[in-house]
Amino acid sequence: MKGVILAGGLGTRLYPLTKATNKHLLPVYDRCMVHYAIDNLLRAGMENILVVTGGPHAGDFLRVLGNGKHLGIKHLEYGYQEGEGGIAEALSIAEDFSEGQPILVVLGDNFTDADLGPAAREFREGAHLFLKKVADPREYGVAVFDEKDVSRIVAIEEKPEVPKSDYAVTGFYIYDQRAFDYVRKSEPSARGELEITTVNNFYIRDRLMTWSELDGMWLDCGSFDSLFEANRAVAQARRRDEERLRPVVPDADK
Ligand code: DAU
Repeated sequence: MKGVILAGGLGTRLYPLTKATNKHLLPVYDRCMVHYAIDNLLRAGMENILVVTGGPHAGDFLRVLGNGKHLGIKHLEYGYQEGEGGIAEALSIAEDFSEGQPILVVLGDNFTDADLGPAAREFREGAHLFLKKVADPREYGVAVFDEKDVSRIVAIEEKPEVPKSDYAVTGFYIYDQRAFDYVRKSEPSARGELEITTVNNFYIRDRLMTWSELDGMWLDCGSFDSLFEANRAVAQARRRDEERLRPVVPDADK
């Protein structure tokens, strides 16, 4: 399995911070946001990682990540997304890189101390979602469960006004090669993007979707409040010298 970080987009919700650099290079305490996504993949055993980015600050990634060796990455590649055509469009850039292998995908603004490794090692085919129970799921993709078999997802609804469950779809996904065919079959949504939720719904339609509950804290750092929360979580973990959220390669950038 290979690792993919999707770190494109313009990050307009975080203006003016993202006028200076890419959202995923903003600080989360003493490291950049993307460092935590990389650590999620390293901890799950990924040796080959692709970072897909875009926008006016794409070049900043090279300065921060270089060839990734100092972070513990065996092989690092970059992909460039023209424009902001959606998460599924960014995903499609990973097709050649994947070389037929399954991929563990991390949305670069998602932040967790959970271990994605067990699900990655168990994965055989289809797709796997990591869900998290949240107080207000309206800002996310939300799982709809079968009324008779409550463990079975029958659909994902993207940012529903009236959510049918409390389970948000986090930005961690495992896909086999079908994902790329499903992206090709996808139509742009009302906001003009190729949505990852459309890809997930293809897997669900074809009964190829499994899920597990994300075992740890989860934040989507796309807003000022959640970015602040992520900073606080790392600050607390550092002060208490906790194992979680510690860099895989210590002081890699210092
Ligand atoms: O955070 C989890 C949520 O992420 C899911 O629950 C939703 O189902 C999913 O659609 C997504 O929603 P967001 O509205 O939060 O996605 P956002 O546009 O913020 O994009 C998330 C990341 O995906 C972003 O940090 C970089 C990457 N991305 C996004 C777009 C639109 C790209 O690489 N290229 C893109 O064109």
